[in-house]
Amino acid sequence: MSQQVRGVIARGKGEPVQVETIVVPDPGPGEAVVKVQACGVCHTDLHYREGGINDDFPFLLGHEAAGVVESVGEGVEDVAPGDFVILNWRAVCGQCRSCRRGRPQYCFATHNAKQKMTLLDGTELSPALGIGAFAEKTLVAAGQCTKVDPAASPAAAGLLGCGVMAGLGAAINTGGVGRGDTVAVIGCGGVGNAAVVGARLAGAAKIIAVDIDPRKLVTARGLGATHTVDSSSGDPVEEIRALTGGNGADVVIEAVGRPETYRQAFYARDLAGTVVLVGVPTPEMTLELPLLDVFGRGGALKSSWYGDCLPSRDFPMLIDLYLQGRLDLDAFVTETIALDDVEQAFARMHDGDVLRSVVVF
Ligand code: APR
Ligand code: ZN
Ligand code: ZN
Repeated sequence: MSQQVRGVIARGKGEPVQVETIVVPDPGPGEAVVKVQACGVCHTDLHYREGGINDDFPFLLGHEAAGVVESVGEGVEDVAPGDFVILNWRAVCGQCRSCRRGRPQYCFATHNAKQKMTLLDGTELSPALGIGAFAEKTLVAAGQCTKVDPAASPAAAGLLGCGVMAGLGAAINTGGVGRGDTVAVIGCGGVGNAAVVGARLAGAAKIIAVDIDPRKLVTARGLGATHTVDSSSGDPVEEIRALTGGNGADVVIEAVGRPETYRQAFYARDLAGTVVLVGVPTPEMTLELPLLDVFGRGGALKSSWYGDCLPSRDFPMLIDLYLQGRLDLDAFVTETIALDDVEQAFARMHDGDVLRSVVVF
């Protein structure tokens, strides 16, 4: 048995996405079918459409989602039909070297569903990040489902599935921001502003938000930034230093993904401070730095994938904070849209006003 639902398909490089009928098989061993309730529009979906990730068209896009488990296959014990879950693209395998060494947040062998969803003509679909949640229902590995408190709004909860978790985790997990730290966040889109929120949750004393778009700085202030720096007219490093007693920040989070902002992040940190790189550069980007500066400054240079999150540990905890009013996930939902509007949401993505467009079903 299988069922037919509507899903957003990218058929070829750069072609506009379309809603098409897809076939979702019943869950096999270790799999679950999830009725999707909300799915955020992330840059990675656009990168798939542009052929920037791989050539495995057609893609079923969407990967930042929450929903309700409809059915589970043989051997699934951690989730059951009716559970409210957030989907994740790093379902730890338990077998790889990272998992065996007790660092499952760096698992590099994530579990995905073994069966394939297809188009009506039988063409197999490649689900974005092994999820494919711009669809009324999707088939995933059961380990990709993390049960959380169903009182949470699906639109807000789904954001923990990717971009917002990336930013929160960059501050809390990768950067290890602690009470009294000074933190600078360079680039305050959805990811950077989530890092601002993470720094605040972790007890940072000063949170300096940097962006070239003043509207993003207004949002950052609303989310907990204590200082803002408009870097449209130049390098923000001196201002960050001035705001931190001449020292630089304890933790600098880069959430743009460009050589000049990587450089700024590197120089904006205090001696022995930590730089966390979240912004994803393109393959051709390079950065040259004097080795003596690298050697002489000490500290740590880290990159952060998915906020180094462990979904089973972090998602329920963050949803609890959200329900207590201590983590404003709703602030990241700029607009809710229909499944048919994903292409327009891609076009709006770089409008300064949008943190996240979220498809709700
Ligand atoms: N200096 C400072 N800010 C900049 C600069 C710059 N030179 N160039 C762009 N920005 C700002 C933009 O104004 C915007 O607010 O960076 C922000 C980028 O935000 P979004 O485009 O909304 O992207 P986001 O979803 O936040 O992701 C940021 O993190 O996970 C990665 O792949 C993701 O590389 C991307 C980055
Ligand atoms: Zn693993
Ligand atoms: Zn994403």
